[in-house]
Amino acid sequence: MLKPEDILDEVDKRLYKISEEVKFPLPKEDKKKIKEMLDYLKKSQIEEIAEKLNLRPGMGLSAVQIGILKRYFVIVEEITTEKDKEQKFKNYIIINPKIISHSEEIIYSEVGEGCLSVNRDVEGIVPRYARTTIEAYDEDGNKFEIRVREELSIAFQHEIDHLNGILFTQRIINDEQTKNTMRAI
Ligand code: NI
Repeated sequence: MLKPEDILDEVDKRLYKISEEVKFPLPKEDKKKIKEMLDYLKKSQIEEIAEKLNLRPGMGLSAVQIGILKRYFVIVEEITTEKDKEQKFKNYIIINPKIISHSEEIIYSEVGEGCLSVNRDVEGIVPRYARTTIEAYDEDGNKFEIRVREELSIAFQHEIDHLNGILFTQRIINDEQTKNTMRAI
C-alpha cells in the first residue's frame, strides 16, 4: 500500500519534468501502482480511515507524484447521494490523455486547489476550463473519449498539468480584475 511519504513533495525536481507516453501492453507493475493509487485516494476520502492513517484527502494522483514519470493518473470522485448508506466512489484511470476540446468559459475553485504534493496553504486561484473533452487510453490500451465539467474538469486539468511537469502553484493568479471574468465553483 502507498504511504503518505511515498508521495513526492513540491521541492522534488521530478515533479517539474515531462512524463513519457505509456506504451502498451501496460506493464504489470504499473497496473499494480494504479490499484494502489486508487486505493490511497479512496481511503483518503473516508474520514475514519484517513484519520487513522494520517492521510490528507485527495481526489487525483499522477504517476509522477510517486516517482513514475509516465503519462497516467487516477481520479476518485465521490458520488454519494442522500440515498446511500455508505460513501460511493467512481474511479477514473487515465492514460496518455490529450485535451481535444474545451469550453471558452473559465472557472476556478473557490476554496482553492489542493495537491497531495503541496503541503502548505496557497493563496490565490487557478483558472481552468469549465468543460473539457479528453481523449485517453484505458489499462488495456483501448482509446476512449470523456467529457468532464466543473470540479471534475478542474481535477483532470490539474492532473494533466502534472504529466507536463506543472504544479497548480505555477498557475496561481491573484488579480481581482481577471478573477471577475471567471466563474467560481
Ligand atoms: Ni496535484
